[in-house]
Amino acid sequence: MPASPVVRVRTPTVEHLRDGLGLGTPRPRLSWLIEGDSPNWRQESYEIELERDFSRSTSGQIRSDESVLVPWPFPPLGSREQVRARVRVWGHDETAPTEWSEPLQLETGLLHANDWSALMVSPRATTERLPVFRREFTVRDDLLQARLYVTALGVYEAEINGERVGDDVLAPEWTSYQHRLLYRTHDITTHLRDGPNAIGVMVADGWYRGRMGWTGRREVYGQDLGLLAQLELTYRDDSRETIATGADWSWGLGPVISSDLYDGEDYDARLLRDDWSIASDGPADWAPAEVLPFDHSVLAAPESPPVRRTETIQPVRVIRSPAGRVLLDFGQNLVGRVQLTVAGPAGHRIELRHAEVLEHGELGTRPLRSALARDVYTLRGGDTEHWEPRFTVHGFRYVEIGGWPSKDGVPPVGAVRAVVCHTDMAATGTFTCSDPLLQRLHDNVVWSMRGNFLGIPTDCPQRDERLGWTGDIAAFAPTAGFLYDCAGMLSSWLRDLAADQEPGGKVPIFVPWVDVWHPGRRDVQAEPLMAGWGDAATIVPWTLYQRFGDAGVLERQYSSAVAWTQALLSLDPRDPRSSSHQFGDWLDPTAPPDRPGDGATDPALVLAAYQVRSLDMIAAMANALDRTRDAVKFQQLAKDRRAVFAEFFASDGTAHRESQTSYALALVFDLLAPNQRRTAGDRLARLVLDSGHRIGTGFIGTPIICDALTSTGHLEAAYRLLQQTESPSWLHPVTLGATTVWERWDSMLPDGTINPGEMTSFNHYALGSIADWMHRTVAGLAPSAPGYREVLVAPKPGGTLSSAGATHRTPYGDVSVSWNLEGRLFTLCLKLPIGTTGWVALPDGSAERAVGSGIHVFTCLLEQPEQTREPVPAVQDQTER
Ligand code: BGC
Repeated sequence: MPASPVVRVRTPTVEHLRDGLGLGTPRPRLSWLIEGDSPNWRQESYEIELERDFSRSTSGQIRSDESVLVPWPFPPLGSREQVRARVRVWGHDETAPTEWSEPLQLETGLLHANDWSALMVSPRATTERLPVFRREFTVRDDLLQARLYVTALGVYEAEINGERVGDDVLAPEWTSYQHRLLYRTHDITTHLRDGPNAIGVMVADGWYRGRMGWTGRREVYGQDLGLLAQLELTYRDDSRETIATGADWSWGLGPVISSDLYDGEDYDARLLRDDWSIASDGPADWAPAEVLPFDHSVLAAPESPPVRRTETIQPVRVIRSPAGRVLLDFGQNLVGRVQLTVAGPAGHRIELRHAEVLEHGELGTRPLRSALARDVYTLRGGDTEHWEPRFTVHGFRYVEIGGWPSKDGVPPVGAVRAVVCHTDMAATGTFTCSDPLLQRLHDNVVWSMRGNFLGIPTDCPQRDERLGWTGDIAAFAPTAGFLYDCAGMLSSWLRDLAADQEPGGKVPIFVPWVDVWHPGRRDVQAEPLMAGWGDAATIVPWTLYQRFGDAGVLERQYSSAVAWTQALLSLDPRDPRSSSHQFGDWLDPTAPPDRPGDGATDPALVLAAYQVRSLDMIAAMANALDRTRDAVKFQQLAKDRRAVFAEFFASDGTAHRESQTSYALALVFDLLAPNQRRTAGDRLARLVLDSGHRIGTGFIGTPIICDALTSTGHLEAAYRLLQQTESPSWLHPVTLGATTVWERWDSMLPDGTINPGEMTSFNHYALGSIADWMHRTVAGLAPSAPGYREVLVAPKPGGTLSSAGATHRTPYGDVSVSWNLEGRLFTLCLKLPIGTTGWVALPDGSAERAVGSGIHVFTCLLEQPEQTREPVPAVQDQTER
């Protein structure tokens, strides 16, 4: 039978990973993309073939149109198994399958604790300098392949025979280390040579032992740094030799004097021993390592790509500050570190200080609070030297360089570059539009995501904080899921959320949880249940399901989500004690700089809203997982809690205590009776109008306010808010030259001074969560079935825009939507991948229509720009609750 000529299957992918080495599951799920120009082509069945132990087995032809995260149809894999999988598919009206895809190489890691013979080794000595571990070994000349399984208590970098192993940065990423410690698998075959070899591993404090939080706490997970490494050499005769950390490894002091994520790295190149990762016959003054007790059952393989160095950036200008200091401006606020190429005398020190902004022409370091963000390099002397810190990152746009070894102290072009570091997720989403300021806002959102997706989703990347604040990612997850393939990273983080959850269901305010207030205590969570924060337990899994079609993550997180929701229901929003410690609509522009939770919205209303929101989410999860009885129960509870929420509103839909966020929550979380919606929408529009179209929301209201306006017929008000340039607004920081999203609407004040509040980050993604509305409503690209299997294409032109568009690499392939407006003529171009359906709603209000894969163009004539319906007049004599 000839193969189907019209479409082809791309090399499959596995789980949410970018390659198949070191898998941590015996039953990995596979996905594939189908490409071709045949419009409306649909997969009707598929076959997966597995090459294992030189024999092939097949799944047989499986009738299913699914191509995303399909279940493993073979017996489970064992540890270290190497297999190849390929896929072919059949179309709905074809008898012949496609050609086989290229095969995907899969290899499992060490799946069981008893696969490890390596012991956790440590210097066990309190040294100021950081340790290097080392081991020499001999390799026979009939080596077939070699693997390194490695992790650390701390963060590590390994070299074999003088060459770096892998390209990951700050491994292992931060997880709830007492429950889960990630190890990575490296193919080191080409690093090895016949005869003597050496491996050297530097280990530093990282999250494990470094400074954590603003209370100055260190050693939150332990006092001793450790290394766990297992090299497995397989020879042609099938024999395997294992070289594993144990008492026969040595350690010595390395060139890193100190390294801390907040404070920076101090490195003395004169102290780097030439033999640290090279076999040598030199004097053996290395000390024996000690073995630490260690529970191997916490070891887990990663579910996402590692942190990598993803881009290098040249400075755009050199500045001589008023105090005479040399400052480099990289033109972009970024997260990473600086790389030097320098020559100078031995012992000469170069000092680098980092900051996101300038104030009065000098580095504005006050927002870093106690984080020193200072790197020091001491030259070895002689030839040109290259250096970049290994175990720290900073959030910065400006670097002050002290002691550059030249007359004027200014480094030559090319000598100093910034290296951007973050989890190496594939970029999947773009947005374009005709307004350059909005475009820059969107670019800033992308940069803030890059800056805060380093192993875990953090609040900020620069000050003495950088924690996995749950509320921030709860707000930003939909935007994140569009911009990058962050499914692996976030589902790994959700495991930590569940692991750190209290037995009663309480989710910590940040994950991984470390008690930065009470040194010595690890599991005590004195903080109350925090509405809008702990709800990350329900919101993030649901978002991952919607955006990536991953039902597995729903299944896995279900009990965590239910437990959180039940715990939250223990608070009564009508009881003032319940809401007295809530963060509420954190950082709305009316909150005083030093009281960020003291904004316009009643925190009790936020609590009542999230009780329903999380109940709705777990009801939806239960439905998706076919747990119908649970779903019915949660729906009933949600109904009861809607009644509680209703007490914050008058019967016509007016809030007792009005604010933009109160209405946004009521409308977007669907908390009002149908007859109240119109008034609530009009009141919201009136508040927005009365504020001169300036934003009045904090972390809770910001992601949803434009949805609230759009869904109640006030699209133009939403656009005017979005395109506002006066403060407070999304674009005001852009007009001041922001290159990332700020924590506060006014992190920088118009006079160029930094907001006096104690928390003033210039790289916080939460307020950037409006990008999700830009993707869904401005460009008009939204998921309407999990994984974008069905796509809602409903662009709503407005404001001053004459064109907009978005592209998204969905799990089924690339979707692109773009529109432009010429006079009244609206033209929409849409491209959908095979396997998806588009629901197209044109802005002229004509009926929605369904389209299949391929390219589609639609036109329609628009009325004059939609006028905002006149909102109802301001209500006098507001009754305070
Ligand atoms: C963080 C936030 C977080 C908030 C909650 C801040 O310090 O930076 O983004 O959500 O605290 O209290």
